[in-house]
Amino acid sequence: MKNIVILISGRGSNMEAIVRTAQKEKWPARIAAVISNRADAAGLAFAASHGIATSVVESKSFSSREAFDATLQKEIDRYAPDLVVLAGFMRILTEAFVNHYAGRMMNIHPSLLPSFKGLHTHQQALKMGVKVHGATVHFVDVELDHGPVVAQAAVPVLPDDTENTLGARVLEQEHIIYPRAIRWFIEGKVRLEGGIALVQD
Ligand code: GRF
Repeated sequence: MKNIVILISGRGSNMEAIVRTAQKEKWPARIAAVISNRADAAGLAFAASHGIATSVVESKSFSSREAFDATLQKEIDRYAPDLVVLAGFMRILTEAFVNHYAGRMMNIHPSLLPSFKGLHTHQQALKMGVKVHGATVHFVDVELDHGPVVAQAAVPVLPDDTENTLGARVLEQEHIIYPRAIRWFIEGKVRLEGGIALVQD
């Protein structure tokens, strides 16, 4: 049984998709814990109602990034995770934290990386006038929204799209590719070679 720890900051719809898919597909893994850096993260209630351990390490009560990350790391490691999943976890991470989970921490970003890093990705896509947009699951490295790509999904950008309609189309795909990428990982189908993630499905 592999252990997965999911980090959230808010709504948690990706976490929810992962939990539901893991149950439906009977993964040989358990979601050991859902940890939030905000006490008001809506996703915590869903996790608790599914019998998953939840905890909060409140980022706003720490005076430095290093101190927060060190405490968070301790909390995560109580669950001996094989994989740490960032699911809408809105924090810039220290190098020490990222290195500690090298090769076993994934993130989902709502754009086709390397395009549109950072925030407001749907707005950035609309402003650029791109005709396809999407989402990326990647291993986390020390650069923001960067690291070996595990899975991507593309969606069309339609002429009358707004940030909301485009965002909803992307989110639907996020809920498909994130559980899929995690499943590949726990089944041992993802290999890192020369800075690239190779997937053998
Ligand atoms: C998602 O769009 C994810 O790609 C981004 O933040 C959003 C989180 O949504 N990193 P949710 O909390 O999973 O609903």
